[in-house]
Amino acid sequence: MDIMRKSAEDLSNEEVSMIEDLLEELELEERHGYSKDGMPSYKSWNRPYSENDVILAIVDSVVVGLIDFSVIDSTATMHVLVVSEGFRNQGIATKLYKELKKYLKHDTWANELHLSVRANNGAIEFYKKMGFISYHVEMYSNIL
Ligand SMILES: CC(C)(COP(=O)(O)OP(=O)(O)OC[C@H]1O[C@@H](n2cnc3c(N)ncnc32)[C@H](O)[C@@H]1OP(=O)(O)O)[C@@H](O)C(=O)NCCC(=O)NCCS
Repeated sequence: MDIMRKSAEDLSNEEVSMIEDLLEELELEERHGYSKDGMPSYKSWNRPYSENDVILAIVDSVVVGLIDFSVIDSTATMHVLVVSEGFRNQGIATKLYKELKKYLKHDTWANELHLSVRANNGAIEFYKKMGFISYHVEMYSNIL
């Protein structure tokens, strides 16, 4: 397996297509603009994707996992973390995350890494294992 970091604007069309395939596995609202049908495509989405980077996990030339993130001044934000279902529980997310931390530490001014996750997402256990703590709680109530 290869782990590589790339600026989003340097991704080839083939890589974007594989990222879109991978994100099909997430719920629509969690795709963050990488979408083949219906939603704006990855490159035309509002968010300034050109400023984002991705870390890809590649097996046999196929993208099986990714972190999409951005850095503004001293704050890094992880926008997407996903590993393809058939490749989970093999330590791939851990490898992606370690690569992200190494990059942030050595090649950026970031000293904080933020992310947002739904309260019922199993990924919370993963984030806790990686040392994340909860510092802000967003609440919601159904009005109807
Ligand atoms: C969350 C996700 C990225 C984890 O990827 P992964 O490659 O399977 O994770 P790893 O194998 O590196 O797991 C590392 C540790 O985290 C724990 N972990 C990972 N996913 C977990 C889950 N869903 N529930 C509980 N623990 C989990 C594992 O137990 C593992 O610990 P161990 O090595 O002691 O067994 C993957 O399940 C996924 O893509 N989920 C769907 C997308 C998603 O929810 N993304 C986050 C949205 S914010």
